[in-house]
Amino acid sequence: MYEKIQETASWLKARMTTSPKTAIILGTGLGQLASEITDAYEFPYQDIPNFPVSTVEGHAGKLIFGKLGGYDIMAMDGRFHYYEGYSMKEVTFPERVMYELGINTLFVSNASGGMNPNFKIGDLMVIDDHINFFPEHPLHGKNFPTGPRFPDMHEAYDKKLRDLADEVAKEEGIRLVHGVYVGVQGPTFETPAEYRMYRTLGGDAVGMSTVPEVIVARHCGIRVFGISVITDLGGFDVPVKVSHEEVQKAANAAEPKMTEIMRELIKRSF
Ligand code: HPA
Repeated sequence: MYEKIQETASWLKARMTTSPKTAIILGTGLGQLASEITDAYEFPYQDIPNFPVSTVEGHAGKLIFGKLGGYDIMAMDGRFHYYEGYSMKEVTFPERVMYELGINTLFVSNASGGMNPNFKIGDLMVIDDHINFFPEHPLHGKNFPTGPRFPDMHEAYDKKLRDLADEVAKEEGIRLVHGVYVGVQGPTFETPAEYRMYRTLGGDAVGMSTVPEVIVARHCGIRVFGISVITDLGGFDVPVKVSHEEVQKAANAAEPKMTEIMRELIKRSF
């Protein structure tokens, strides 16, 4: 696997004309940000050696390099979900490659089901912490030399960036909530009992991505900021009926707010 990562990184380096230190995973709610990247050049996943290919509806599947707010960045347009059948090593392959390319800060977005009773559909939740409920660990197996065998997971989500997000939101008059993201394998949405269980265990929102990528990024010493759009509600006293269409609709509606926060935050993070 390590040779494959090196091979992919070398292939990209040979073609890159910029030196990004910041990467963005354009998850649900952030697609619009892709169109704001200037001086862009891109590589479809299928053209990149060893890269998995994204299959899920609504995800294009390419790496975009260019500038955002005047700074070099790279963006993943389309990510790999465990429920699609990828192994955890495949899901987190791009973060391993990012590290080899010199990335030191990662911004990630996703959609999730809110369980905190104070949350409303369309809210943006800064991920303060996570609970890993995936059945396979991305660091399972031989340790990679990028980090320790037993990596610390305190402040997996950078405190300074979380505070900065609050500052930006306040200035822009955007309601921002904070919470713990529970990462689950999917692809089923939660049963009412499962939503209640995750809430009881300390979760504020539940979703099917992000946790593996963040774990690997942290193992590489990359600082991380994560934001989640609450697209549906579950938990106590909430009638539960969730569909992919509803999730997409709520995410699209929240997209301008999400884009605004991320754009500003990325600018100020340099
Ligand atoms: N559960 C899991 N994943 C999700 C949800 C949810 O309620 N909403 C959006 N992604």
